[in-house]
Amino acid sequence: MPTLELPAALAAEIVELRRDFHRHPELGFQEERTARRVAELLAGIDGLTVTSGIAKTGLVALLAGGKPGPTLLVRADMDGLPIHELNQHDYRSCHDGVMHACGHDAHMAMQIGAIKLLAARRGELAGNVKFIFQPAEEGPGGAKPMIEAGVMENPHVEAAIGFHIWNNLPVGQIGITEGPCMANTDVFEIRIEGKGGHGAMPHLSVDSVVVAAHVITALQTVVSRNVSPLERAVVTIGKVEAGDRHNIIAHTARLNGTARSFSDEVGQLLPERVTAIATHVCEAFGAKCHMHYSNVYPAVVNDAAMCRRVWASAEKVVGAQNVIAAQPSMGGEDMSFFLQAVPGCFFFIGSKNPAKGIDVPHHHPEFEIDEDSLAVGTRVIVQAVLDYLAG
Ligand code: NI
Repeated sequence: MPTLELPAALAAEIVELRRDFHRHPELGFQEERTARRVAELLAGIDGLTVTSGIAKTGLVALLAGGKPGPTLLVRADMDGLPIHELNQHDYRSCHDGVMHACGHDAHMAMQIGAIKLLAARRGELAGNVKFIFQPAEEGPGGAKPMIEAGVMENPHVEAAIGFHIWNNLPVGQIGITEGPCMANTDVFEIRIEGKGGHGAMPHLSVDSVVVAAHVITALQTVVSRNVSPLERAVVTIGKVEAGDRHNIIAHTARLNGTARSFSDEVGQLLPERVTAIATHVCEAFGAKCHMHYSNVYPAVVNDAAMCRRVWASAEKVVGAQNVIAAQPSMGGEDMSFFLQAVPGCFFFIGSKNPAKGIDVPHHHPEFEIDEDSLAVGTRVIVQAVLDYLAG
């Protein structure tokens, strides 16, 4: 099948849509305006059935093909982040303290563009496309509740594709990783209970700040001394809270962290070692350790056959030299739940452009993408769907 051109008017509309979503970011499970806007934009498209209110703010848009065949799931996420935007462009966030700093605005815009393009060709599709607009990817996670709400059935989904705008790759490139692609993600909180007192009489207290410092330092040995050097893992303490005043010994300290891994073996080792180190360091100093450790998202694991299909489709759009085997990322993604249910491919759409000064990482208060990536991404999504439903 030849590649499908993206009409200039639709390409411009996708850019405007992305800017509209960018102006109005909403946090996970609060995507009310976003969901309303998506439903409005998809209303009245021939052959498209839109269902709203799935897992609170999620939507499913089912495009029925003209011929019988399998159902492919295509997923975009909807939520912004609790970040105060520092960009100065005229479409910057108008919700103070909330920002689309990961590119989910772009995901929705590209998916809506892809729906419009595919709906016009639905007579040729041998099968259906189930487009998912998923809430709360940044946490606590909307994929699992959507699956629990039954989105993999009626009609039954055979395979899935998902995508992420990616400032680790230049605009014009598509990155695909066979097998493990994004990390198994844990979060933990360590509450250290010492004994408060006067800052000038430390011998009468158990200083939770000193204990916290030792716990943080000792946790650095989990990856360096417990995990095999041939494996991949991260343990990060991202938040430390303790103390009220310079002359008061803090009664408690709270540490919040995340741990990442790919293999099952390391996935089991990390909670064991983090818990053992925190517990025993606290004990050694006479403090109590209250540990809360949980898994957030399993690793995103791409199916090799689906990756080869998407790879071939992407080559048609951007050329063989621009489809690359991307490095796995230690980031987490709840696309993993869809890929546990059916074989699929989660791929990266390059969006950085240092020549235009667009080169900041995801989740940065000045996050920006090269909007030329929107047309590239839309065309790859459409091509992947056409090729999949062509058999
Ligand atoms: Ni993201």
